[in-house]
Amino acid sequence: MATTAAPALTFTRVPHPAPAAAEVRAQVLANPGFGTKFSDHMVSIDWTEAEGWHNAQILPYGPIALDPAAAVLHYAQEIFEGLKAYRLADGGIALFRPEANAARFNASARRLAMAEIPEALFVEAVEQLVLADRDWFPTVEGGSLYLRPFMFASEAFLGVRPAKTYRFMVIASPAGNYFKSGSPAVSIWVSDYTRAAPGGTGAAKCGGNYAASLVPTAEAFARGHDQVLFLDAAEHKWIEELGGMNLFFAFDDGSILTPPLSGTILPGITRESLIALAREEGLTVREERYSLDQWRADAASGKLVETFACGTAAVVTPVGKVADHNGEFVIGSGGPGQLTQKLRQRLVAIQRGEAADSHGWVKQIA
Ligand SMILES: Cc1ncc(COP(=O)(O)O)c(C=O)c1O
Repeated sequence: MATTAAPALTFTRVPHPAPAAAEVRAQVLANPGFGTKFSDHMVSIDWTEAEGWHNAQILPYGPIALDPAAAVLHYAQEIFEGLKAYRLADGGIALFRPEANAARFNASARRLAMAEIPEALFVEAVEQLVLADRDWFPTVEGGSLYLRPFMFASEAFLGVRPAKTYRFMVIASPAGNYFKSGSPAVSIWVSDYTRAAPGGTGAAKCGGNYAASLVPTAEAFARGHDQVLFLDAAEHKWIEELGGMNLFFAFDDGSILTPPLSGTILPGITRESLIALAREEGLTVREERYSLDQWRADAASGKLVETFACGTAAVVTPVGKVADHNGEFVIGSGGPGQLTQKLRQRLVAIQRGEAADSHGWVKQIA
């Protein structure tokens, strides 16, 4: 659906009549966890065919009313994004590559036959919320304000066709360090289930993809693993990605490999950033298919030295162990490898304004 020309929208502000008390907020910020606590406000913007994007508001955080026939509740026309705002060493506030999230959001919108939002409006909505709730940054080391822009079909209509009205919203949730003690190596279960097939929605960040990953993820947990890995749909042979992270493989010849953006995996912004950083480090980066059998063989021969997963939530996470019905194998020493740690440190330092940002990735907003 075509983007409506970007009108300069003015955000109406309705301040929270009873924001969280300072002591309550302080308690949350000292131990934020992930995704359970929310800041005082939220953004809401509506789209209709007739009016395009309108009714931009910053509202008190709270429940929203939906018609029971709203299309999202029946046909799952819903997409989302995830990004973080960081407090910089000098007290400022920055977002990491919000334009990349806006671009991916619109790619998801096109795949789900939803209205696209002007990238500048997406970014402004995120910024406005962060500035309104700037007192909601965690006080714990490694903390950040996690931002969740999302959009759903709000039209009350049960016919199966793209809806004619949408709501875009942004909520914010203080987030702690994903892993309490640095970055332990995770254990992975290779699923028999398929996440995405060619021609499907695998490259879109739509809620339906995650609904379908819950049973495989629960199975991985039940078997004692931390994450689920999906293989390709056609041959059940090629490595695709984890339930919520992309994968990289590091070899003894100094090269690294990551599965290509074939349309069935999410084009991760952390993935793209790490490819750039690794190339700067002088590494050869290949975006090529890699099979589970080859991974197992290379881990055994020592050709493969490290494997890591990456995504906004945990940034870079070493993979220590892999298991499927044929048994399990260990990567390197089973713990965090040197390259994994180096790339993680470089990226985190850029995100937090502690290292030079030669790519223009960090958008300081305060
Ligand atoms: C399925 C999936 N793959 C990969 C990623 C990593 O993407 P990003 O680095 O943009 O957070 C995510 C997280 O958003 C995800 O949900």
